[in-house]
Amino acid sequence: MKNAKKFWKIGKREHNTQYFDITKDGDLVVFEGNYQYNIRELAEKYGTPLKVMLPYIIEQRVEDLMDLFEDCLREYKYDGQFYYHYPMKVNQNREFVLPIISEGANLETTSANELWVVKRLWHQHRFNSRIKVICNGPKTEQYLALIAELKSNGLDIVPIIEDLSEMEALQKFRGQVGVRVDLGVQVDSYWDKKIERFGLSIDEVYALGKIKNLTTLHYHMGSEIERQADILRGLKKAMEVYVKLKKENPSLDTIDMGGGFPGNFHTKPLYSITGVVHRIIQFLGTYSREHGVQPPNIICEWGRYVVSPAQFTIFSILNDKLIPKASAKKWYVIDGSFQTHLLDTWAVRRQWHVVPVNNMHARKLTRTWLAGLSCDSDDKYTAGGSYIMLPRLEDLEAGEKQYIAVLDTGDYQDGFTNHHCLNAAPAKVVCQNGDVTLINKRETAEEVGKLFGW
Ligand SMILES: Cc1ncc(COP(=O)(O)O)c(C=O)c1O
Repeated sequence: MKNAKKFWKIGKREHNTQYFDITKDGDLVVFEGNYQYNIRELAEKYGTPLKVMLPYIIEQRVEDLMDLFEDCLREYKYDGQFYYHYPMKVNQNREFVLPIISEGANLETTSANELWVVKRLWHQHRFNSRIKVICNGPKTEQYLALIAELKSNGLDIVPIIEDLSEMEALQKFRGQVGVRVDLGVQVDSYWDKKIERFGLSIDEVYALGKIKNLTTLHYHMGSEIERQADILRGLKKAMEVYVKLKKENPSLDTIDMGGGFPGNFHTKPLYSITGVVHRIIQFLGTYSREHGVQPPNIICEWGRYVVSPAQFTIFSILNDKLIPKASAKKWYVIDGSFQTHLLDTWAVRRQWHVVPVNNMHARKLTRTWLAGLSCDSDDKYTAGGSYIMLPRLEDLEAGEKQYIAVLDTGDYQDGFTNHHCLNAAPAKVVCQNGDVTLINKRETAEEVGKLFGW
């Protein structure tokens, strides 16, 4: 193939593949600055399925995002602060969370158990006292107790009132609180907005009147917001609420936009992060001026955008099988599963970026659908009824395996993993400072069996 990089969308910032390249021999490689890792060699050494994670990519993305906001604040002389809060639900693994914190990010939790991780880090004196933690999600008694405990231990923690039933408990809280509003703004996103279950309606928020220690107005419009205009429409609605709420609550000084910037799920990038951040800051500055309020501090909780490209998952093709009549010619059966390892295939009908790991210069390709390892007819990926181009297995040399990489698996997939058909969790390596470390061995039958009482 003449232009393999273009064909496989490798080395392109708009596809989050600026960290990848293809060798002369047709192997996929990933960069960590000037270090380089050959993915075929990793697959051969550690076996498949294999997750490969690079903290460097996370560090770069958090830094770029924070710099972008900071540069815009300066450019528009915005008189407020920006805080990035990493939503831990997107990936709670240590190898993800630690590099994010090292770049100066704050955290957002959604459950008592996520906050327990924060408690551990706080008790181990890993944080400095500048870190701020936002607590979203339904508040169980355990969650509320932990919030109170960490506050009394000196952590800067802001619980968000998600529901009227949380009002009573959180109004006794001796610190800043936020309130989550359901803006009622319909946006195209992977989020069932027909009946919103989170947050208070705008009228409910107004009816609360004075909320003790209110500093933060929070909303979250959805994941994978497809149009930039929708991000701004939501922000405008939120500012209308903010201005009104501030009259009775002068302590209100922060708007938390939640998550939603799209990942690499679409054949084409939807809009640019630079453009949208400029518009956010410009809008907030102008709107605040026109309505006579101090520009709010800004919190953003974009999760997928930051961590998705920091991990990819490698499979090998076990065999192929003809498909008589379809857009694809062959099933390629992989040694992993879409049902157990890549749940977003279902959850958000995700379009994965699938590339070969070896033979990337192959001239002859075949149209495939990918079949997973589970004995379940739903364990498949058909690229939404289209097909995935991959090298032909008949062209492999004797004993050679064809490996594939599913890119951008750093967000959500680890937390979603299950054991359908008692499939084992893949091994995981971390590539850092030129070294490769096996941090999770592939689960054995004994380990999986134990989870089910055997
Ligand atoms: C409150 C809140 N914040 C942040 C996020 C992260 O969203 P994303 O990963 O789409 O940016 C979510 C995701 O559902 C959320 O519910």
